[in-house]
Amino acid sequence: LGEGLAPTPPMGFNNWNSTHCRAEFNEAMVKGIADIFVAKGLKEAGYEYVNLDDCWALPQRDANGKLVPDPARFPSGIKAVADYVHAKGLKFGIYTSAGTKTCNAAGFPGGLGHEYSDARQFADWGVDYLKYDNCNNQGVDAKLRYNTMRDALNATGRAIVYSICEWGENQPWEWAADVGQLWRTTGDISDNWGSMLSIMKRNLPLAQYAGPGHWNDPDMLEVGNGGMTDTEYRSHFSMWSVMAAPLLIGSDLRKAPASAFEILGNREVIAVDQDPLGKQGTVISSEGGRWVVAKEMRDGSRAVALFNESGSPQRIATTAKAVGLPDAPGYRLRDLWQHTDANTAGTISATVPAHGTVLVRVSRDRDWALLPPAVEVSAD
Ligand code: GLA
Repeated sequence: LGEGLAPTPPMGFNNWNSTHCRAEFNEAMVKGIADIFVAKGLKEAGYEYVNLDDCWALPQRDANGKLVPDPARFPSGIKAVADYVHAKGLKFGIYTSAGTKTCNAAGFPGGLGHEYSDARQFADWGVDYLKYDNCNNQGVDAKLRYNTMRDALNATGRAIVYSICEWGENQPWEWAADVGQLWRTTGDISDNWGSMLSIMKRNLPLAQYAGPGHWNDPDMLEVGNGGMTDTEYRSHFSMWSVMAAPLLIGSDLRKAPASAFEILGNREVIAVDQDPLGKQGTVISSEGGRWVVAKEMRDGSRAVALFNESGSPQRIATTAKAVGLPDAPGYRLRDLWQHTDANTAGTISATVPAHGTVLVRVSRDRDWALLPPAVEVSAD
């Protein structure tokens, strides 16, 4: 049943990075995000899932063992919110843990031992996506826990994307392709450069495990939350796209700055993430914090990220040959942030600002000579 789900990395929203369990995580927020997805063109750009994270439920199940939505946050219940999201042509996701309780200290109920009834309840509400966390797992084998929920989701007969959130603890890249559509590869991201960088470095070497319907998940986006500069957020979004990562917006779009919409709405970058070949980019070189990461695209082109880890500008360079392109007299270089075209005989290089990324798409092009020659562009 999971067959055919998430042929490209899932795109959408999850409240966790912006709200954690604070009271502003509620029905009004979730509906507001769905409204903005439509009104601001994000739905058109591919964002589809509107997902709840931890803290949506009451700490106790009801007398029948059913999960109970927190009436202060979700006065209309979960089904009504899911219906609202669906009415906008979007999909709806929810969260629980493969343990006795979720991760929050308040101790919300987890799915361990309740898999079939919880999955049934989610399906009845119209859930299209489940994030299944790892807290309070009682030491039960991870494969057993995650397989049981997979079987329970399958038993509902509803197509539900299954996000395995065990933080990379049991090398899920080696077994989870048959279980869910995505698996976290690391611990939680936080809204700063160091966190984003360390997660990127741990996710990059796992490229071989990703493909259509089974993705490495380096955690959700922080773009728009305010802890990084716009240059750093463009790097974050560039690298998640080159890594074919799920693109789950983690900021409250009702208050996000215009720059966040510009970054998250960049269709040329999204197209890198969503390329149907489904390859995660691989590291070509990384000396001195000058990272070159290249992603093979279905049309034969390569998306190439020149990522500057260091705190000062650096020239970062590679070649068409090094990123895997066949020999040609010249190539088209499309800058996916500047939206400009240039030609190159083979060198792909730029002076990249501190913590910046130049993201280009490089292709063989019969008309390359008609394009202006590439200059050493600076991202901003
Ligand atoms: C864990 C997960 C996070 C988030 C929280 C919720 O830390 O990894 O993504 O879901 O739990 O409590």
